[in-house]
Amino acid sequence: MWLMVDEAHITTIAVLNDWRGRGLGELLLVSLIQQATEVYAHRMTLEVRVSNETAQKLYRKYGFAEEGVRPRYYSDNNEDAYIMSTKNIQDISYQEAFTDRLERLRSRFGSVPDLEVVAPVFAAQHAARSQ
Ligand SMILES: CC(C)(COP(=O)(O)OP(=O)(O)OC[C@H]1O[C@@H](n2cnc3c(N)ncnc32)[C@H](O)[C@@H]1OP(=O)(O)O)[C@@H](O)C(=O)NCCC(=O)NCCS
Repeated sequence: MWLMVDEAHITTIAVLNDWRGRGLGELLLVSLIQQATEVYAHRMTLEVRVSNETAQKLYRKYGFAEEGVRPRYYSDNNEDAYIMSTKNIQDISYQEAFTDRLERLRSRFGSVPDLEVVAPVFAAQHAARSQ
């Protein structure tokens, strides 16, 4: 994530194929939103392939909405990118919705005191279950 003045630009977010669909991508995004909030960013933005409905669904869940298109943004296949951005993440309405999402994540992952440690805890739980 880059911080440019008061805008936090997500550059890369990815989960290994075998680990997808278990909440890790959401945890990564949540962590970025928390960090952006802490450094007083007002807006978050990113580009996403128009065909990448999975990622778009994740971003919409956290208040990102399409606000434009960058034609032929991806040089490998000339695919267009949607520009997706949040409203002001410091607004009470955003923070209330975000807190609500965090509570749901907490109940999904069990009683975890601090979300910043959720990802390693989740990985450890998964490793223990796989043994
Ligand atoms: C996008 C990506 C990071 C999501 O990570 P993930 O760990 O699989 O996602 P999660 O399990 O945390 O799911 C979070 C949300 O993403 C969306 N999502 C995840 N998998 C999905 C699928 N197969 N179909 C539709 N939506 C999906 C849903 O909104 C989901 O929330 P829900 O569980 O309440 O429905 C992952 O698919 C990935 O690494 N993709 C390749 C790289 C990429 O496209 N990065 C984004 C570039 S802009």
